[in-house]
Amino acid sequence: MKKLKIQGKNTLSGSIRISGAKNASVALIPAAILADSPVTICNVPEITDTDALVEILEYLGADIKRASESILINPETIINKPIPSAISKKLRASYYFMAVLLGKYKHVEMYFPGGCSIGARPIDQTLKGFRALGAQIKEEEDKYTIDAKELIGARVYLDVPSVGATINTMLVAAKAVGETVIENAAKEPEIVNVATFLNNMGANITGAGTSEIRIQGVDKLEGCYTEVIPDRIEAGTYMIAGALVGDNLKIDNIIPEHVETLTLKLKEMGVKLEVGPDYIVTSKTENLKPVRIKTLGYPGFATDLQQPITTLLTQCEGISTLEETIYENRFQNVPYLNDMGASIEIKENNRMITIKGKTELTGTTVTATDLRAGACLVLAALAASGETIIENIEHVLRGYENILEKLTVVGAKIELLEEIKVNS
Ligand code: EPU
Repeated sequence: MKKLKIQGKNTLSGSIRISGAKNASVALIPAAILADSPVTICNVPEITDTDALVEILEYLGADIKRASESILINPETIINKPIPSAISKKLRASYYFMAVLLGKYKHVEMYFPGGCSIGARPIDQTLKGFRALGAQIKEEEDKYTIDAKELIGARVYLDVPSVGATINTMLVAAKAVGETVIENAAKEPEIVNVATFLNNMGANITGAGTSEIRIQGVDKLEGCYTEVIPDRIEAGTYMIAGALVGDNLKIDNIIPEHVETLTLKLKEMGVKLEVGPDYIVTSKTENLKPVRIKTLGYPGFATDLQQPITTLLTQCEGISTLEETIYENRFQNVPYLNDMGASIEIKENNRMITIKGKTELTGTTVTATDLRAGACLVLAALAASGETIIENIEHVLRGYENILEKLTVVGAKIELLEEIKVNS
């Protein structure tokens, strides 16, 4: 088990360069399988989630070369074989392999994916997309065997605008016969990144980024080059860090439009910030105003920034409310924030919290229960007096590239502690 030790209340200034988006990379890497020749993906973050996907590709026999944030994938040597439970359960995004193996080989065997324990996270909408295109699905406990004689384009209405189901349906439809239309599609920028990658390979996809995506199936997809978009959730997390303890902290290499909802909320709170063409600068501000936040699909307030912004809400003067509409169990950070001195109450079936501020935060020992809960606690530790130990920091390392180095360079006092196992 790894832990982070953070000495709080150090001012952060300078510049943090944002990495490629985790939630785009984790779809782009499996998507490479659909090509018949090598693809190059640039700006891939070196995080344990991308490592786990590379491990699956290697298990399937792909030839992979990694060089400083680029990854060259040659899918020509891939053999379609069942993906064991132990590797598919390492992360949520393993389910993109379901779509690409089905799309390319018309057969896939794998298990229910893993991922942060933040709610039920069903995959029914992905399976609905596969079925609509003609796939037969056999479910045995958590194992799925999926076959299709032929994949034929269809209209797919998603009951919830799921990011995963939208990407999976696009992936499976790219080489299907005829046209697929996804209605009530999710609109996240990561979906546009995947559609652009597929189009670079020769696919014919229009409408990505809107609620109706059209995919005209093609026979062949070829190798190409693509670049991962900047990580808007990493950017947002560091923007909040700047608002807590920054002195002109520059969040660089971003697409400001992708974090606009957060920017508007920070402005509403009164945070001092400057928006540039590819950067945002934030600084610690006194007398922050309380706000109401409700998580929604893009372009609404991102659920992945809900836990990080809770730390900042503890510093607002008055009562803020935060409603989580995407996941049933995304307040596991709250008891730890309260242990650090926050005054937060969980209400309404675990879907709403009220945060009474301003409260001083004090360092103690806390646990990262999931990725963004961990990010929330890192922010709290940066703002707290004294020392905070954050246990289970592996969750954070899954999603934030070089977090230690990035924070250290701008002035944080942060250290990784590894527990050494002693054999008795
Ligand atoms: N849902 C269904 N059925 C489905 C799929 C989803 O009911 O078949 C529901 C979920 O239960 C949830 C909602 O729809 O209530 C949204 O789920 P979605 O499918 O959009 O999420 P996801 O694709 O599993 C991705 C990110 C998440 C991020 C969400 C929402 C990846 C690997 N994960 O998850 O990222 O929260 O979209 O933006 O791309 C994170 O990075 O911390 C993280 C959890």
